Amino acid sequence: MGILAFEEDFKPITLSQRDAFLPFFVQNGSFTNGELGENKRMIKTVPPPARKNMHITVVEPRSKDDEARLKCMLAKYLDTIAQRVNYHIGYPVNIVYEHYATLAPLIRYHLNNCGDPFIENTVDFHSKDFEVGVLDWFAQLWEIEKDEYWGYVTNGGTEGNLHGILLGREVLPNGILYASRESHYSVFKAAHMYRMEFEGIETMINGEMDYNDLKSKLLRNKGKPAIINVTIGTTFKGAMDDLDAIIHALGECGYSHDQFYIHCDAALSGLVVPFVKNVPKITFKKPIGSVTISGHKFLGCPMPCGVQITRKCLIHNLSRNVEYIASVDATISGSRNGLTPIFLWYSLSTKGRAGLQKDAQRCIENAARLRDRFRGAGISTMHNENGITVVFERPRDKEFVRRWQLSCVRDMAHVIVMPGVTSEALDNFFKDLVQERAMWYKDGRDQPPCLADDLGPNNCYCPIHQQI
Ligand SMILES: Cc1ncc(COP(=O)(O)O)c(C=O)c1O
Repeated sequence: MGILAFEEDFKPITLSQRDAFLPFFVQNGSFTNGELGENKRMIKTVPPPARKNMHITVVEPRSKDDEARLKCMLAKYLDTIAQRVNYHIGYPVNIVYEHYATLAPLIRYHLNNCGDPFIENTVDFHSKDFEVGVLDWFAQLWEIEKDEYWGYVTNGGTEGNLHGILLGREVLPNGILYASRESHYSVFKAAHMYRMEFEGIETMINGEMDYNDLKSKLLRNKGKPAIINVTIGTTFKGAMDDLDAIIHALGECGYSHDQFYIHCDAALSGLVVPFVKNVPKITFKKPIGSVTISGHKFLGCPMPCGVQITRKCLIHNLSRNVEYIASVDATISGSRNGLTPIFLWYSLSTKGRAGLQKDAQRCIENAARLRDRFRGAGISTMHNENGITVVFERPRDKEFVRRWQLSCVRDMAHVIVMPGVTSEALDNFFKDLVQERAMWYKDGRDQPPCLADDLGPNNCYCPIHQQI
């Protein structure tokens, strides 16, 4: 079967960029730029163990040795996370921060973008000029004119969802929130926080919304407007809800444009979709109200952040004058991180659309290869077309799960092939899984789990279904 000759099957990508920017390592108690030896340590096949709790406490400074002690603790922490960076394959974070060395001097300043991005602060320490540059880029991507959109750089996808759904509720105060059961937990949180009437929509086996169930619930609730959360890249299976099918369903059920509001949660795959075929385009030329992405996911940023874009004609529903900050506020949070717009601006400007397209293609191809390898090894698996998420059977050993920092739901786990997940990391992971799995199931007393219900019988290779 040749399952261990894996290297050749993944497209190689350079590790050197990230390694060249390894964080500070300590030598003899002082910080230095890490080089050379660290690379070897990061690429070794046997993963370093999961990091242990350092049980940090705050103690009053006592002597001048204290500074060295603090540096030492920081160094230990940095060393641990630097070693673990190539084993970060279970959560959607792009850890290629090629730009952080250039931008590091910025952390000396408190940059705060409190309030409306389009209204300058009364203090100089903000980055709203960068923020508006980033927002303009996304407005262009999602086809809405500069003078017709409003948006802001959020603290992440969750804040974007909280904002989009709140705006939907303000536009349609007695609207019912519809979301598939594979939606991110922040959507259910929004329903709870805003005390909204909620309809959960069933999903298909691939994680996509079940449009027939949506239609039957839309018809049942015909007297009330609909606020619909559309997920472009579901959290666990990476499925993309079909925006066009949802708009069509609304029309078929007799909902006119003023009776619905669509929020697109594109936190995970918003920057993959523009570069793939057969997925409905996200565009404000369609009757949508808002779109959000997470900035630290596919694009990559060392701090959590996101982008939220909506229609300018709607935002007055949330805007309030705030004399204290001499601004208008329509955001969720008060103080906002002024560093993240600069990181996003820098990432977009250095990668460009061509760079993002290359990242998307490579991630999708590597995800498909990983799925094929799982299949070849008789491991239950599923991968949505154009997706970067590969779902597979939950590893039996908790230590293995922790070692590879995997997220597990029921009997499933997943790998999310982000731009920072190298072919070497996938290779090491696969080898490790195959070797360990052979041990878990060697004497036949335990069997791999059945995933027919979660992934469909065709994707299940449990002892019952592999024989069908
Ligand atoms: C589909 C989806 N929406 C929203 C979020 C929340 O994003 P964040 O973690 O940036 O708040 C996630 C995070 O995984 C997600 O997968």
